[in-house]
Amino acid sequence: PALSLHAHDGLLLEEVPLARIAREVGTPTWVYSAGTLRRRYRALRAALDGAGLEATIHYAAKANDSQAVLRVLRAEGAGADVVSGGELRATMAAGIPAAATVFSGVGKAPEEIRLALAEGIFQLNAESVEEVAMISAIAAGMGVRAPVALRVNPDVDAGTHAKITTGKAENKFGIAYEDAHALYAHMAALPGIRPIGIATHIGSQITAGMAAYHAAYARLAEMVRGLRAAGLPVERVDCGGGLGIPYRDEVAPAPEALAGTIKATLGGLGLPVMLEPGRWIAGPAGVLLASIVLQKQGRGRRFLVADAAMNDLLRPSLYEAWHGILPLSPARHAAPLAPADIVGPVCESGDTFARDRAMPDLPPGEFIAFLDAGAYGAVMSSTYNARPLAAEVMVDGTRFAVVRPRQTHQDLLAQQRLPEWLAP
Ligand code: LLP
Repeated sequence: PALSLHAHDGLLLEEVPLARIAREVGTPTWVYSAGTLRRRYRALRAALDGAGLEATIHYAAKANDSQAVLRVLRAEGAGADVVSGGELRATMAAGIPAAATVFSGVGKAPEEIRLALAEGIFQLNAESVEEVAMISAIAAGMGVRAPVALRVNPDVDAGTHAKITTGKAENKFGIAYEDAHALYAHMAALPGIRPIGIATHIGSQITAGMAAYHAAYARLAEMVRGLRAAGLPVERVDCGGGLGIPYRDEVAPAPEALAGTIKATLGGLGLPVMLEPGRWIAGPAGVLLASIVLQKQGRGRRFLVADAAMNDLLRPSLYEAWHGILPLSPARHAAPLAPADIVGPVCESGDTFARDRAMPDLPPGEFIAFLDAGAYGAVMSSTYNARPLAAEVMVDGTRFAVVRPRQTHQDLLAQQRLPEWLAP
């Protein structure tokens, strides 16, 4: 693991003492490990290759769209999965060509579709007859045929948190399995569409084993056979993302298990497959550093108030997500533990990172790290309570660099305008 405890320097990320970053850059600060990103990308690549799959990896930029992160993954050969024009611009700016990028999402605006087509997008994942009509009209107007895969909702339960499950019939995502064949046939008849395959994504943070994946991909394979029997062209299958990571004590499936499941279900089709992993690559590659503002002893409850809050790391408030929390100082690692609630300074009870967590005594000024914060961390931040966005740092071996300076209060005000009737 990229995190280790050094007897003198405390918690290190790769070779860099995190306390040094906290001192020099301040807190709260996100820190990403380039080495971890590379290692995890390569492990996934090796698992897919090892299963004998012809597969492309399209990193889900929504998990972490930092230019530094995207560049590290680009250098490893990653393509991208984007869900907005903004993400497409970000991945292209990091050198990931549109020709290696898939554009997913339930509501692509006409300008976003136009941008994707003008840039030569690899694949647009469409989800409804209405969207297919819109894409066809735009593409025809531009004199091109849009490469469209149909996102199918396989109606399986991925066994994950209700807010991040996507492959059940009641979710807003994808077209119902029963309607997909007819829509695919319809796409082939539209002037602006080149039907190229089918796609699915059943949820995120999947740790319940391979059963849901297996069920979903088996349904896709059956659909591909049906489409082919009807004489419809299918060039590839997009397997989505969702592979979970152990935040606490979950047993997350290994990428080899996913590769084996893809091989077992879709392998017989002789088609290339695509994967859209976000969390599995970026989650374990990042931490959020914070300082203890004060330790407050309530009646029978100890509160550790940090200078990071729900506006920085939203996952605990939004999903009751569990993140490991460690002190950076080596001395605090040896100290006795007692239960504490770790909270942020935002004016909401929901601004709580952990309850009854076994923590040492942490006086004001002590640093802590929230673990596994590389995915769905900084990207979900806001400036609630007029709290500027935290700084972002990348570590690579013995080096580190600020890859996004901390926002200033001045930055927040500079984005605002007053109507002339309120101007002084
Ligand atoms: N592909 C599609 C179409 C998706 O909707 C997603 C994630 C992914 C790929 C990447 O999934 P991953 O491999 O990262 O699980 N904010 C939530 C997670 C939302 C995931 C949304 N879709 C969280 O913090 O847990």
